[in-house]
Amino acid sequence: MSALPKDYSGKKLSAVEADAVVAELKKYLLDLADRWLFKGRFHTDLSKGTLPVEALKVFWQNWYGFVAEINNFHGVAYQRHLPFFKRHPELQKHFANHVADEMIHPSPPGHIRIVLEQGRNFGLTDDEMIEYEMLAECRAFLEYYRGVLYEGTMAEWWASFCVEEAVGHWAKFFGGALRKVYKMPEEKIVYFRVHAEADLEEHADGVMAHADLDWTVLKKMLEEGRADTRPGFSLEYCLRMGTAYFAWFFEGVYQYVKKEGLYSA
Ligand SMILES: [Fe+2]
Ligand SMILES: [Fe+2]
Repeated sequence: MSALPKDYSGKKLSAVEADAVVAELKKYLLDLADRWLFKGRFHTDLSKGTLPVEALKVFWQNWYGFVAEINNFHGVAYQRHLPFFKRHPELQKHFANHVADEMIHPSPPGHIRIVLEQGRNFGLTDDEMIEYEMLAECRAFLEYYRGVLYEGTMAEWWASFCVEEAVGHWAKFFGGALRKVYKMPEEKIVYFRVHAEADLEEHADGVMAHADLDWTVLKKMLEEGRADTRPGFSLEYCLRMGTAYFAWFFEGVYQYVKKEGLYSA
């Protein structure tokens, strides 16, 4: 990626140039996700079936806390980035659908409801999810997004949110392991099926795949010279940080369950 300029501020790229930048960023993201996330020890153990069920439960308690806030952040971005979307009603339509999809699908209040349902399938009570105090490594993922949303640039938010593409692939991977290795029946892995679809595939009702929208918005910002980033930040850095915190989320759970690091007795 080093051949690319780090700061696109004020640089209006052609559609072809913007496409090339997005394609390269996507490749960068998926490569990092593969190395840090899928090849990390949590997911390696998961696919071998050696990850204890307690790790699934602790992960899910933290994931509940993450989902409960992250979709609302995107709603906040809907308000904060409104001036940009006013000029792009077509994108605004998809953005509105994206926010709504998280909030109302399959029924209100949306994906968070499936998170609770999935947690019950892992043997958790609602209270064990709702009242849970998140681990620092897991909370860091959420706090990174909160920081970028309130203090970062618009492009930093959207580049960071492109990690949703990795979340879609991750949901597919995780659901596959639960199905094949942990022998969970199809109806018990509802969250993972819904997510792989929502994030990666165009929905039957015309709602764009979430990750496709993220990349499309980023591309439009590159074309209009609006992809500015703060010193010490770049689009690449946003993807790298989002993916690192995502991977760290699992590493924190792993350390907690194995009583390592901060969690050693
Ligand atoms: Fe979701
Ligand atoms: Fe999503």
